[in-house]
Amino acid sequence: MIKKISFAVALGMASLGALSGQKLLCQEDGNVTEGKKRSEEERATKKTNPRPGPTPGQQRQAASSKCILTGLWRNELGSKMQIQEVKGDGTFSGEYKTAVSLAQRPIQPASLNGSQHFDKAGQPTFGFTVNWKSFSDSTTVFTGQCFVDENGKEILETMWLLREKAKGPNGWEATRVGTNVFTRIKGQNVDESVRSDGAR
Ligand code: BTN
Repeated sequence: MIKKISFAVALGMASLGALSGQKLLCQEDGNVTEGKKRSEEERATKKTNPRPGPTPGQQRQAASSKCILTGLWRNELGSKMQIQEVKGDGTFSGEYKTAVSLAQRPIQPASLNGSQHFDKAGQPTFGFTVNWKSFSDSTTVFTGQCFVDENGKEILETMWLLREKAKGPNGWEATRVGTNVFTRIKGQNVDESVRSDGAR
């Protein structure tokens, strides 16, 4: 009975609409559309105009949001390091010039060797060892992660462990621990960014 009444009411409304020259509206996905006409047009448009890929600007933005270890870096102590090209397997080498030292001998550049992950987000973790043999018996290992902010500025957030040469085992005082944050500097090698006017 209820069905019959509803059908009769619907039929009546449709006839009234037809008689008065109005179009029959129906509701689809929460939007009132003119029958099925609009969704058919939308389907046709999607087929011929698929969603466009990233614009050159968006591609540049995506590339600059990836952190690249290769280059010249400085930490808050004023130490500098240059990381050479990262190989396909993630390994890299470079040179570290520390601004501070415990050693008696004058500071010299030291070699570093490490490896990084390759992650989709371009914010990889990495680790490297600095062998200070050019002026010290110590060894330092660094581990950290590279981050890029929304302006493309990269930082290397690291933690390090330094082992000094002890006379024998159980020398608790022979190990130091700390953190360093590196930012990228312009230049080609470890000494290049040292300017007499102190500008960076
Ligand atoms: C030494 O003093 O025996 C060698 C130099 C150690 C320098 C340390 S490594 C951790 C910290 N970060 C730096 O840039 N320099 C110091």
